[in-house]
Amino acid sequence: MICGFVIVKILLDEQQLNEGVEKLARSINDSYGSRPLTIIGIMTGSVILLADLIRKLDMPMRVGVLQTASYHGTQRGTLTIDAEMMLDVTQRDVLLVDDIFDTGNTLTAVIERVRQLGPQSIQSAVLLRKTGQQQVTGQPDFVAFDIPDEFVVGYGLDYNDEYRNLSHIACLEPDDLAVSDRGM
Ligand code: IMP
Ligand code: MG
Repeated sequence: MICGFVIVKILLDEQQLNEGVEKLARSINDSYGSRPLTIIGIMTGSVILLADLIRKLDMPMRVGVLQTASYHGTQRGTLTIDAEMMLDVTQRDVLLVDDIFDTGNTLTAVIERVRQLGPQSIQSAVLLRKTGQQQVTGQPDFVAFDIPDEFVVGYGLDYNDEYRNLSHIACLEPDDLAVSDRGM
């Protein structure tokens, strides 16, 4: 597939993503029933998942976001968490939503931060879990897809803040990254 000047390989197409998010929503609906939920999307990667997922959930809900950043291109850097805009989570059942569980450090740090605010419970849902990179013992409670250890973009995930708008998930390979680094 040609995307700008970069050739990308489709890992999950639109239909597979829709089915995966349906399945994720069914598990979350089964787990919470009609209990009111406070859903916190971890920005920016979860932006499309969040929008699709909440429309498939049945319980009463409040929806908020927090911002994290850790990547520069494909290189992991220092993790920052900005929870300034987050909803009040005290005594609430909280579901954190993120795009991908890679090393697991981001979700683990966010759970720790949110826990300090005194929620009733915290669970987490991710679209993707990358195989073989985990540096933490905890796992997300709900996972739509396990994927190989590839750098992926689309459906919210970025490379240098680009490609979030693809409606599929694609792998960026070293050659693609070299082209992309020269600009689109
Ligand atoms: P972790 O802390 O290593 O689990 O990484 C989680 C964050 O890194 C995710 O929320 C993404 O924003 C980003 N990330 C990890 N792997 C990828 C990838 O393959 N493509 C794009 N972003 C990624
Ligand atoms: Mg992210």
